[in-house]
Amino acid sequence: MATPVLSAAERRKLDESDDALFYAEPRFVHHLDAAFRSRLTRLYRDRIAAGAVVLDLMSSWVSHLPADGGYSEVIGHGLNARELQANPQLDRHWVQNLNADQRLPLADASLDAALIVAGWQYLQQPEAVAAELLRCLRPGGQLIVAFSNRLFPTKAPQIWAEASDGERLATVARVLIAQGWPRPELIAEATRAEGPLGWIGGHGDPFFAVLASRP
Ligand SMILES: C[S@@+](CC[C@H](N)C(=O)[O-])C[C@H]1O[C@@H](n2cnc3c(N)ncnc32)[C@H](O)[C@@H]1O
Repeated sequence: MATPVLSAAERRKLDESDDALFYAEPRFVHHLDAAFRSRLTRLYRDRIAAGAVVLDLMSSWVSHLPADGGYSEVIGHGLNARELQANPQLDRHWVQNLNADQRLPLADASLDAALIVAGWQYLQQPEAVAAELLRCLRPGGQLIVAFSNRLFPTKAPQIWAEASDGERLATVARVLIAQGWPRPELIAEATRAEGPLGWIGGHGDPFFAVLASRP
């Protein structure tokens, strides 16, 4: 049983229609810019060991993992089967609406790393998902929740849609701690745009991450 943190109002979103409809058509686009993506790949390279069993929850046609990471298995989950089929980093995947059912079809202590990129912001029951990830990670296993300041505003619950960047980091941490995760590490960084804009000091998408390790 997950420990509730959000109020009913904080879970509401403008578009309450079935999320499966919103994701019915594949979107073969990047949701985050190149600067954000390369910062994320560098983080994965630093934190996820070769041989790891990795879950990319709320994934798409890209997972941002280093191509030479040497993971033993990368499992993907999302809402669009065609995007997941096109993701070259996934060994297998499944489709599940986490706002309808938070139980993950994975064994206890079966993962070394679990990743959520630009996905937490759409969770209406983040407490139950956080509790499930705690169950599925091995002791010492890493959870990495990464996001920027972009979102589909009608699909984000009020707690995310109306929050500042700092409040979003604090919310993820609060939900994790309430489910028994230890105090997470928080990363908030500006990025440098790639290409000519970056040469003159232009910024890329800001990079935020919450990292926690299962005791
Ligand atoms: C902005 S995309 C990010 C996808 C991917 N992680 C990436 O970095 O490109 C948001 C993703 O969240 C997932 N998602 C959104 N709502 C969901 C829901 N109710 N249940 C399960 N997954 C959901 C979908 O897989 C969708 O592709």
